[in-house]
Amino acid sequence: MNRVFTYEEKIDIYSKEVLISREKIESRIEQLGSEISQDYHGRELHVVGVLNGAFMFLADLVRHLSIPCQICFLQASSYKDQHVSTGKVTLMHNLDLSGKNVLIVEDIFDTGLTLKHISEDLNMQKPASIEICALLNKRIPDKLAVDVRYIGFEIENRFVVGYGLDYSEKYRELPHITCLD
Ligand code: IMP
Ligand code: MG
Repeated sequence: MNRVFTYEEKIDIYSKEVLISREKIESRIEQLGSEISQDYHGRELHVVGVLNGAFMFLADLVRHLSIPCQICFLQASSYKDQHVSTGKVTLMHNLDLSGKNVLIVEDIFDTGLTLKHISEDLNMQKPASIEICALLNKRIPDKLAVDVRYIGFEIENRFVVGYGLDYSEKYRELPHITCLD
């Protein structure tokens, strides 16, 4: 039978460097949760998670919301060649967000292509309001102008994995964020 590794062993196996620890993620998400709860006080929030990368972030974030919310997901695939975006994004969802207060929850704001595509697509449904919350904002030149209202952490231009983020579908389960390069 395969042995189950402890988190500490996984950190040893998977990472040379813990970029953002689980403790830092936890406390930042607690802050984001209370900021969002204050901003939407008295309203119901429709939280739209972007699969697959945002599954863990969303699950932790909604636990820190003190306002009523509904949770749904859409699937976004952006096609990359050697980590460089080809500019193609496909979305899959069956959402009806007309008149709702929508918060898009995404793992990372990189070039902005995916988030731009998603917000344009969901805006066509005429929500009452639409905002974006991204766990990470990667500092890269030539980002698309996307208004990301809530950001967890600013990071350098490095390829990161863990806490939902993957490399070829691997490492999503790590409880912290680490660099692969
Ligand atoms: P964007 O469209 O360039 O902003 O990036 C879209 C998607 O690329 C994100 O939702 C992530 O899934 C993925 N991505 C971008 N940077 C990274 C990274 O450093 N690690 C893992 N995935 C990333
Ligand atoms: Mg993603």
